[in-house]
Amino acid sequence: MDQMNPINQINQMNLSPDMKTINPSILYYGTPVVLLNTLNEDGTVNISPISSSWALGDCLVLGIGITGKAFENMKRHPECVINVPGPSMWENVERLAPYTGKNPVPAEKKQNGFTYQKDKYEISGLTPIESIRVKPTRIRECPIQIEAEVRHIRIPDHVSYFAIVETQAVQVHVHQNKLLGENHIDPTKWSPLIYNFRHYFGLGDHLGKTFRSET
Ligand SMILES: Cc1cc2nc3c(=O)[nH]c(=O)nc-3n(C[C@H](O)[C@H](O)[C@H](O)COP(=O)(O)O)c2cc1C
Repeated sequence: MDQMNPINQINQMNLSPDMKTINPSILYYGTPVVLLNTLNEDGTVNISPISSSWALGDCLVLGIGITGKAFENMKRHPECVINVPGPSMWENVERLAPYTGKNPVPAEKKQNGFTYQKDKYEISGLTPIESIRVKPTRIRECPIQIEAEVRHIRIPDHVSYFAIVETQAVQVHVHQNKLLGENHIDPTKWSPLIYNFRHYFGLGDHLGKTFRSET
């Protein structure tokens, strides 16, 4: 009888000798880093490193802290560029890491060691290029640059510190040397920069491909 009780089943699973229940402070289990470009009120561009994103079709969803400049900018001007750096760019990303474009720096960010930086291009050593469909510039060094329009912003009921920002890709740019034919990115030439529990990694070895792969 007890064996049918789901709670007992869960307890039994937790007693498995090779597992332990934990209360982690972060759950960054390995997602690509993107550099999110948004438009400042004076027409300059802010760059924010982000790892909470996913893409399906032309929909790109971002998890964005509401005290940061990116959130403020996207609410005022609903456009962005999602720049995707490769592993060789991790130091450019990390140069941006301790900064916010928000002035004054919000108390909670100050507590975490953030300071204000207006010119994120200068500090990161990256280069702006004009976008085609949106106002924020793109980052030339990033092999993939996705111009996008913000479609919906929602703050989840159970949290107060970040928003789920839904965007629609309207123009995709790719470095020529990452292409396979006309419209495919060559997965043997492209590698994302992975944010793995606050450490930067590249991809490991190629393991295989899914039955739907076109390349
Ligand atoms: C690699 C990396 C990934 C990050 N991922 C996120 C994220 O997914 N969402 C977020 O809100 N902040 C993320 N952050 C923190 C922001 O970059 C940080 O809050 C920064 O101050 C935002 O800049 P802004 O205030 O100028 O927009 C990440 C930082 C780093 C270095």
